[in-house]
Amino acid sequence: MVNAVETDKLLESIEQKTALIGVIGLGYVGLPLVRAFLDAGFRCLGFDLDETKIEQLEAGKSYISHIDDGWIAETVESKAFLPSSDMSRLAEPDVILICVPTPLTQDKQPDLSFVEETTRSIASRLRPGQLVVLESTTYPGTTREVVLPLLEQGGLTVGSDFFLAYSPEREDPGNPDFSAPRIPKVIGGIDEASLRVARALYGQVVVETVAVSSCEIAEACKILENTYRSINIAMVNELKLLFQRMDIDIWEVIEAASTKPFGFQPFYPGPGLGGHCIPIDPFYLSWLARRHEMTAQFIELAGEINSSMPAHVVSRLVEALGSVGKRLAGARVGILGVAYKPNVDDPRESPAFKLMELLTEGEAELSYNDPYIPQLPKMRSFDVPSLQSEELSPDYLSSLDCLLIVTDHDVYDWELVAEHASLIVDTRNALASVTQDRAKIWKA
Ligand SMILES: NC(=O)c1ccc[n+]([C@@H]2O[C@H](COP(=O)([O-])OP(=O)(O)OC[C@H]3O[C@@H](n4cnc5c(N)ncnc54)[C@H](O)[C@@H]3O)[C@@H](O)[C@H]2O)c1
Repeated sequence: MVNAVETDKLLESIEQKTALIGVIGLGYVGLPLVRAFLDAGFRCLGFDLDETKIEQLEAGKSYISHIDDGWIAETVESKAFLPSSDMSRLAEPDVILICVPTPLTQDKQPDLSFVEETTRSIASRLRPGQLVVLESTTYPGTTREVVLPLLEQGGLTVGSDFFLAYSPEREDPGNPDFSAPRIPKVIGGIDEASLRVARALYGQVVVETVAVSSCEIAEACKILENTYRSINIAMVNELKLLFQRMDIDIWEVIEAASTKPFGFQPFYPGPGLGGHCIPIDPFYLSWLARRHEMTAQFIELAGEINSSMPAHVVSRLVEALGSVGKRLAGARVGILGVAYKPNVDDPRESPAFKLMELLTEGEAELSYNDPYIPQLPKMRSFDVPSLQSEELSPDYLSSLDCLLIVTDHDVYDWELVAEHASLIVDTRNALASVTQDRAKIWKA
């Protein structure tokens, strides 16, 4: 057991909110987490290797569109929030929460390099009595088999010197109903004492803590949540193709099925998966399955179906153009929305980029509008044209041969879109309420 005096000291500082909280990785997950701890009355040391993020925070500015900057300026000024790129300060916080990326490598293997690098930085400064919690999404076993041995290389031992836990982040960026403090937090400790202090910590900040019997259960829980979404989305994507052949509208079917008061949860088809989680996390599990000499068939199949959606959308668009006597080559195609989901500025893994690649191969002339993404970013895995967002004006809409709706941001004026675009391919059923001139609207 960690020395009882150290344990009591940490528990007391958590109770009194004098514990200094360190958050590593100030992105879509880490920054809202800092805010949750600040709002609860703690002080936070926020770490990020990206100097431009630290400079912006120090200037009181947010770099994430749905996170306002008022609280940043205020808490940085009062020194309640201390953003830093200086990892030598990792000995200062009493608690260290790791929120760094967990992407896939090119061949769809887990890329734990960010977690490993961060853990090494912590290990060399780890001091007795600190609590370390991994929040990044990962496969079951990471905390015990990857993080723990690296931390112990620093010379301290879990159980007698420091605490270690896993608690998955369930952030839903841009969802005003569920900010970090309103989402129950699942927590698995490497031992009893770690679970106890981690639970005491999150209990100060979130609406509910859910203790589970191990780090592995907590890790598997997060992957289950995301795999569940990926598979259900794949199912409706496949049904969309089938129903389209039968001239049945999948969205109307889902709306009708949603009236069942039990046993049905609606999922919606789309142009393909996007974001940092759903297209990636299930592959952490299928990789692990292979190590256990199994194939995670549902995951593989869902991945296949979901990643075939952009090609389906393009063939539908070609069909739509054909219906008005036009070809894809040379057609002016405007993409509406390139963020991976509505109302956020996050382009990661957005299907818009695969669609752009396919449309460019077909020699379409591309342009786009996204109020949250003024300029197309460079992407690791896609060849993205260098374009700036067009103004969504009647002139722009009527200049296009076809408008392709990819992301249904709330700010879009669908009446304006439907009135001025001459041909529309709608992958989100965004124009459901438009009743006029339906013949020019193709669902895909
Ligand atoms: N974005 C989401 O909606 C979401 C939701 C739930 C869980 N997650 C998980 O949370 C984790 C973080 O995701 P995110 O979306 O916040 O990523 P992000 O890319 O927005 O932020 C990660 C930050 O970590 C920083 N970083 C990388 N290596 C570092 C290091 N060694 N030291 C310090 N900083 C470092 C990066 O500069 C970046 O600012 C991932 O595991 C992700 O799967 C994400």
